[in-house]
Order: sequence, then structure tokens, then C-alpha cells
Amino acid sequence: MTQNAEHFKESGYEPVEQNVGKKNKKFEKLGLKKSMRNVFSKIAEHRPRRGLLEKIEEIRQGLQVDLDMQQRIIKKLHISMQRGLEENTGRNCDDGREDALSMFLSYVTSRPHAKTVVGKECLSMDLGGTYLRISHVKFNAHDGGQFKDEYEIKQEKYKITDEAKTATLFEWVAEQVEEFMETKAIGQIEKDVCIPCGFTFSFPTDQTAIDKGILRLWCKGFAVPDIEGKRDVVELTQSEMDKRGVKVKIVALLNDTVATMVASTYFHSRTAMCTIFGTGNNASYWEKIKDIPKYTPPDKNSGARVGGNDSSNSSGGASDDEMAINIEWGAFDNLREVLPYTNYDNDINRRSPPIGLQVLEKMVAGLYLGEVVRVILVDLIDHKLLFSHQGNDFMSLRRFFREEYSFDTALISVIVADDSEDLEDVADIIAPELPDHVNITQLDLLIIKYICLLTSIRSASLSAAMVAGVLLFRNKHESLVPTVLSDDPNQNIVVVGVEGSAYDLPGFSQFLSASTNSLLSYNNVKFKAVFEFVQNASILGSAIVALMTSSA
Ligand code: GLC
Repeated sequence: MTQNAEHFKESGYEPVEQNVGKKNKKFEKLGLKKSMRNVFSKIAEHRPRRGLLEKIEEIRQGLQVDLDMQQRIIKKLHISMQRGLEENTGRNCDDGREDALSMFLSYVTSRPHAKTVVGKECLSMDLGGTYLRISHVKFNAHDGGQFKDEYEIKQEKYKITDEAKTATLFEWVAEQVEEFMETKAIGQIEKDVCIPCGFTFSFPTDQTAIDKGILRLWCKGFAVPDIEGKRDVVELTQSEMDKRGVKVKIVALLNDTVATMVASTYFHSRTAMCTIFGTGNNASYWEKIKDIPKYTPPDKNSGARVGGNDSSNSSGGASDDEMAINIEWGAFDNLREVLPYTNYDNDINRRSPPIGLQVLEKMVAGLYLGEVVRVILVDLIDHKLLFSHQGNDFMSLRRFFREEYSFDTALISVIVADDSEDLEDVADIIAPELPDHVNITQLDLLIIKYICLLTSIRSASLSAAMVAGVLLFRNKHESLVPTVLSDDPNQNIVVVGVEGSAYDLPGFSQFLSASTNSLLSYNNVKFKAVFEFVQNASILGSAIVALMTSSA
């Protein structure tokens, strides 16, 4: 394992703990900003020692994303998206010169239609964070947007080993598929027939066809050598499965954002884009093919159109001349021109692969939020402003304050949701990390909660600018809502599909939605964004595209 990969040992942004749910409900009423102000007042009431209020105000300002900044982000996003649509940029921007987004073609050129998938079954694999998920998916009747009973999933989840992440990934995947096929008795599948499989591969991958893609860059702690820029990930996986005689044929390769968007569109035909807040952070959207200069459509009679040509399901502005585009927005502003980039971010970026890249992702995604909080707390400790009563003993603090990536993002959820008077849950999390003789004070707990709130608000505000930016970009050429039903934006809705555990951070979804919609209204559009979390989206989306491809 490489030294850098060590940092991601647990590489695991684990889903938020179950018990947070109840508290979230109570918390939601308060809202992130209001809660932040309340906590600040309480800190001030403690009449803290000199320098503390100034320092936390300095931190707040550094993490602040105001309307002007959001507008600047949107402006730059539009330039970066347009450049990415015009040419294949070749790199993910690490040479300090180019600043285009990848805008990868997905070759998914039609919205999903129930009639293509109903009654059919296939495999779906999802690889890209902490787990490999292998699923057998069967679609039942599509019932007017009702999720229930529309599909059946038999799923197994395999924790990706460190060795797989850094050396044997494709052999390891094939081994798990073999195990799945042997042990999860999929009755309906005949032994000698190859079952079609959709492969959700959540890394920046340059696709040249629906079932071909060269990995451009490892991220999220993966680092298998000799793959980047050279190898087709479908070929690599397929040949390992063939060696083992596994009767599975990968027919479609999808980024997780594209898969999620397809699933979201299947259930909500007005889906315009999707975004993922998981270990990583990224988005995709439906773009008109005529507005993708770098793509030359194949001769109508050659090549497979993915998804047939029935547009009857497409009431949300869909038509057959669209393609799902994987934006790879985690790499937005790698040049650090418009993002509220602090020295804390520099510190994290410098030691987290891919170094210097995926700049936005490292400010927003689940893998990194806990680390942002941790480095800020360490800074406060170094300034003797946190746990300051213990004199020079601060070097003996345990895990959280010594080990990189030891503060899991899921803890932010628990901390932010704790609205008890004496912040018991925060104390339960922090106390074990301190030497026995140190008593944590109420003020310490408040400061920790405040930093968690600031970090969550920054992540949600940046995400809002990005979501609004994509919707405004797509709306530029042609209205996203073709038939404006009313002058009231509330009547004209576009759906943003969402997946990922970081979306569950208390107050995050409400803040994201409110901030996105105020940006849309500030930019004078007459539609409203509605965020829809889609269960099992990346599994379902790749299954849908696999079936669409097989039947094309
Ligand atoms: C990273 C990957 C991207 C993926 C995202 C969410 O940003 O580069 O492809 O969509 O993580 O998993």
C-alpha cells in the first residue's frame, strides 16, 4: 500500500448512524444558519478568553460562501462546462493552465422507458467508494411513480480491501462476482446463458462507447498502478471474469451520477440532473446533443442508440436528442480562483491523493468533511483556544487530534443534531479522545459544534451554487421547462436526483434546496428545483441502461 493510500485506510465514509434520524427531525425546524447563530451566541455568553471570538470569526469568514461568491462560481462553472463540451481536455487539470471540466460523454442517449425494462432482469455492479455492491435486479410493472414493488433487488455488499484498492482491483471484483453467481442462487438465470450486467464505476472515466472507458485518474484513495490513461476498465474486468468462466457480460459502463440520473428519470420524468454526495462529489445532467460540439453522432443506421426512441415518457423536456453528461465537477476550480479556499484546504489537498486535484470534492464530499473539521480543531488546539485549560499537555491528545482522517464525517451528523443543553452526544464523542485527566468544558463542546456547522454550511452552499449553475447552463440554450405552465415558479418543477450519505447531514438537504432555489430566482428563471433522493439509484440506473442496451 502506498503511503498516501494509508490515509484512506478506512477510506470509508460510512453511512450516518441510524439514531441520528429522530434528532434530525427536531433539528430541521431550526435550520443550519440559525443553529450556527445560536451556538455562536452561547459561545459569546461564556465570555471566552481573549482571541477566541476573533479566531472563530476569522474561521467563519474563511469558510463563508455569500451570494456574490456563488454567482462567481456559477459564472466560472459555465465557462468550464462549455470548454469541456467543446474539446476533450485530456487531463483533469493539474498543470496550472487548463481549467475545463471533463464533461465526459456517457453514450446514454435516451431517457429510460418502463416498457424496455419491465419484466426483465440483469446484474448490476457498483464500484467506487467503500464497497462493491453486486445486485440482481428485476423490474416489475411501473406504476405512475410509485417506488414500491416496482423492482426486486438481491444484493451483496463487499468491503473493498486495501490490497484491491491499490493493486488487485479487477481480479478482486471478478472473484466477488464469481462468488455472487455461485452462492446467491439466482433461480431464473439459466446456467449457460451470459447475464447482461451494468457496471457503475465511480471514477473519472473517458468513455468512447456505452461499454468502453479509459480511466483518467484514480481518486478517493484508489491507486492501482498502470491503469490511468491507458486501460479500458470494462475490458479489464471482463477478461478477469472470463478467466474464471463467470457467465456475466458487461454491456454498459456508467458513472454513478449517470446511473443515478437514469434511475431518477425513470421515476421522475422531469429529472434534469443528478448529484452525488457520497465518498466523492459529482454531478451529471441531460444535455442536448446539438450542444455538445465534441461529440459526433454516429450514422443513424449504425451503432446502438441506448434506449430506443419512445419519448412518450418524457414529459419533463425530454427528447431523444439528449445525452447524459458526466460533469466530474469534483475537479471544478482546481486553479483555486473562485472557491473559498483556506489554508485548511491547502493542508488537506497537499496530502490527499490526487494531490492538487479534485479541489471542490475535497471541500464537499463525505470522505473529506470530517477531515476539514479535524484540521480546524487541531488549529484551535495549537492556538490554545480549545481544551486550553490543560496547559502544554495538548500534544498528548489522542486519535482525532493526531491521526489524519480519524474524524469520520458521520460524527458531524451526530454533533450537529445534538441540541441538548449540555451537548451530551458531543461530549460522548470527544471525551474518549482526551487524556484521562482532562475535563472537557461546555465551551469546548460549543466550539466543536460550531465548527461542524460551519463546515456543513460551506458544503451545502457550494453545492447549491453548483446545482443552480448546471440548471442555468442547461437552460441557456433552451428552456429546461419547455411549456411554462405558470408565471409562478412553484408550478414549474425540475427534479434533481440525489444519492449519497452526506446528503443526510442534519439540515443539509433543506439548506441546499433553499439556497439553490434562491439562486435560481435571483437569476430570473421561472422554475423551481425539487431534490429527490432515489433509493438504490446507482444500482437501478446501471441495470436500466444494461437492459436498454441489450434490447437496442
Ligand atoms: C469522484 C469521481 C466521480 C464520482 C464521484 C462520486 O468525484 O471522480 O466519477 O462520480 O466521486 O462517487
